[in-house]
Amino acid sequence: MERSLHRNKRWRCVAYMVALVTLWNEASAQIRYSISEEVKEGSVVGNIAKDLGIDKATLKDREYRIVGSSTEPLFRLNKDDGILYVSRKVDREEICERSNTCIINIKTVLENPLEIHYVAIEVMDINDHSPVFPEKEKRLEIFESTLPGARFQLQPARDPDGGQFTVQQYKLSHNDHFRLEVKERGEDRKMPFLILQKQLDREAMGEHKLLLTAIDGGKPAMSETIEIVIVVLDVNDNSPVFTKDVYSTILNENANPGTLVIQVNATDLDEGANSEIVYTFGKEVDIHLQKLFHIDPRTGEIKVTGLIDFEAKDRYAIDIKASDKGPVPLATEKSVIITIADLNDNAPEIEVTSFSSAIPEDSKPGTTVALISVNDNDSGLNGKVICYVSEDVPFTLTPSLQDNMFSIVTKSLLDREHQSKYDVTIIAKDAGDKPLSSHRTISVTVSDVNDNSPEFSTNPYTLYVVENNVAGASLFSVSAYDCDEGDNALISYNIVRHGDEHKTITSFLNINSETGDILALKSFDFETMKTFQFQVVATDSGTPSLSSNVTVNVFILDQNDNAPVILYPVSSNGSAEGVEEIPRNVNAGHLVTKVRAYDADIGYNGWLLFSLQEVTDHSLFGLDRYTGQIRTLRSFTETDEAEHKLVILVKDNGNVSLSATATVVVKVVEPKEAFAASDVKSATKNEEENNVTFYLMITLGSVSTLFLISIIVLIAMQCSKTTDYTSKYLQETNYDGTLCHSIQYRSGDKRYMLVGPRMSIGSTIVPGSHANTLVSGMNAVDK
Ligand SMILES: *[C@@H]1O[C@H](CO)[C@@H](O)[C@H](O)[C@H]1NC(C)=O
Ligand SMILES: *[C@@H]1O[C@H](CO)[C@@H](O)[C@H](O)[C@H]1NC(C)=O
Ligand SMILES: *[C@@H]1O[C@H](CO)[C@@H](O)[C@H](O)[C@H]1NC(C)=O
Ligand SMILES: *[C@@H]1O[C@H](CO)[C@@H](O)[C@H](O)[C@H]1NC(C)=O
Ligand SMILES: *[C@@H]1O[C@H](CO)[C@@H](O)[C@H](O)[C@H]1NC(C)=O
Repeated sequence: MERSLHRNKRWRCVAYMVALVTLWNEASAQIRYSISEEVKEGSVVGNIAKDLGIDKATLKDREYRIVGSSTEPLFRLNKDDGILYVSRKVDREEICERSNTCIINIKTVLENPLEIHYVAIEVMDINDHSPVFPEKEKRLEIFESTLPGARFQLQPARDPDGGQFTVQQYKLSHNDHFRLEVKERGEDRKMPFLILQKQLDREAMGEHKLLLTAIDGGKPAMSETIEIVIVVLDVNDNSPVFTKDVYSTILNENANPGTLVIQVNATDLDEGANSEIVYTFGKEVDIHLQKLFHIDPRTGEIKVTGLIDFEAKDRYAIDIKASDKGPVPLATEKSVIITIADLNDNAPEIEVTSFSSAIPEDSKPGTTVALISVNDNDSGLNGKVICYVSEDVPFTLTPSLQDNMFSIVTKSLLDREHQSKYDVTIIAKDAGDKPLSSHRTISVTVSDVNDNSPEFSTNPYTLYVVENNVAGASLFSVSAYDCDEGDNALISYNIVRHGDEHKTITSFLNINSETGDILALKSFDFETMKTFQFQVVATDSGTPSLSSNVTVNVFILDQNDNAPVILYPVSSNGSAEGVEEIPRNVNAGHLVTKVRAYDADIGYNGWLLFSLQEVTDHSLFGLDRYTGQIRTLRSFTETDEAEHKLVILVKDNGNVSLSATATVVVKVVEPKEAFAASDVKSATKNEEENNVTFYLMITLGSVSTLFLISIIVLIAMQCSKTTDYTSKYLQETNYDGTLCHSIQYRSGDKRYMLVGPRMSIGSTIVPGSHANTLVSGMNAVDK
């Protein structure tokens, strides 16, 4: 039998194919044909009639047919010529499956006479099938950790063709990791295996695609290729890796909670859970730090949760751990550097390190009162402190050798009496962007030094005392004030007792050294002493003590305590009685006599008025009220009596007036004898009067001089007064009666009348033109 036809010309050549007729030894099969599978429908299998030797002519009479039950016979027998045709496509693999030889037996019947022939048709195999893999694609999942040498069985390809047309070999596309191994499994079954040659790395290549080709033994060979997808399964073999080498950031202090500080990021080359990263603080990170910061385990964001204080710590190094979620997690740590930026959030602090709360007022400028230190916890400019004290105090700050230490010293002299306490406010201000400042006030007390003398409220004191004061009673009191305090202001008063002149006066004065009350130990008599002065010293109790003195000018005021004294007439036994003899022939207006009296008091108290209290004949004698002259009013007549008695009342003008009486008896005598008597009398009288005039001139002169000096002294004393206290001296010469030179002294509403200057001993004043009253200094002798 020949089969040399080319595969693709198969269909056309089948007709010409010479069937190899072999006589079968077996009785049942007389004829044996062989055909290739897949010949065309209508192809001739063989000429059975000819091969059986049946004459073609006989076939006309005899019916030749195939018997069989098959409804769709593979073959058809032409009953006219006995040629067997293929009636439909013969597929060996369909008919015989995988048996090595495929023989179809058919039974033919030739009738008249009946002959049965068995025909065996061998269907010859052709390579009409490619190898077929059971799956289009093969997926293999291999852990990357799988060691080299591991074997993975692959599904073998099947080829319906038999024999040499079945799969003969497998080929694997080129790759680094796998090689192919084919194992014979009896008959012609070949089992392909993938052998891992080199360890896989999912991270390098997660999927490998290999091509496996199965090739059969046909010529030309047919092949089939399948893709083998090798999925490399992840194994947690990679640690997380931080994306940056260094994580560092700057964070402002006092950042609000929730502020994002920095985000760390780590990646893991593994996949799935093996690459899912959880961020945590490293084991070494202490609890305190974990309160300040929080890390989001999922995102790696580090946020502020606590109070960030530059002053507490200015730099943080936090270890962050990134671990994956693999079954055996892998972890990496990285340090995150957080630098804290300072904000001006601390006000300067002022601390008083030493402080003397009281300093003496006589401290020199530059005396240290307190030491202060200032501190600002911020750094840089925010912590640079400028310090000063308020302007209005006599203190200043001087820097000390040590940093941020200052001493508060006095700037000028202090005066406790001016200000005894200072509130010194120290202001400290930093140099930050928004400067903060703080202040502190210290109270400095200026302690007293005895630098003030006592001061009297008025100087000099002028005191008016009415004479006849009660002895032992308080006259008045002096008072001094001392600006110092405590003992330095505790004043004791003393009367200055030295010098002859003062000693006598001051001996009857006493002073209460505490209160300054001045007592007069005796009663003053104006007529004896009209004025005096003394000095009071006020001494404080400081050490050393200071003192000052004041002059007290005392003016004694007159009281009407002296009754008029009749000087003339005075009888030998001392009573105011006298006898005057006048001639009967005197005319009217004849001066009979003059009553003389004096009053030791002054002013109205000493101003005497005369009046007739008793007279025998009112028509005869007249009395001058002011001068005390008694004159005749008319000539005497014969009827007039020879003796007349006149009682003259002398009265002063005091508020409660005092008086005295004088009695003058006038005897009227005959002219002759009276004349002689009158001559003698008038001669002596003139002599007497001349003498009086001479003394008066001397006295008047000296008194005027003294008076002038006194006036000047008084004016000087008044001018030396610094107060508004004004007083006027009115010099007034009163010619009325006995009112002599007087000084009216007005002080405020009060009006005093003084009789002038201190009288010199024994002096006599006869003021007034009439000189009818003598104010004698005879009593004004210091006792
Ligand atoms: C982390 O880094 C990776 C790789 O650089 C990037 O793809 C990812 O977006 C980053 N994650 C974050 C949260 O920044
Ligand atoms: C400043 O720092 C000192 C010492 O560290 C501390 O005692 C003080 O309380 C701080 N002051 C402020 C206002 O924080
Ligand atoms: C009184 O004071 C004056 C000066 O004020 C002084 O000169 C005088 O000595 C003092 N007199 C006495 C007694 O202290
Ligand atoms: C003084 O003498 C007169 C007579 O000359 C007489 O009247 C009078 O009483 C006498 N007075 C006294 C106090 O003796
Ligand atoms: C005189 O005395 C009366 C009553 O005795 C008194 O009211 C009056 O003030 C006194 N006058 C003088 C100037 O003393």
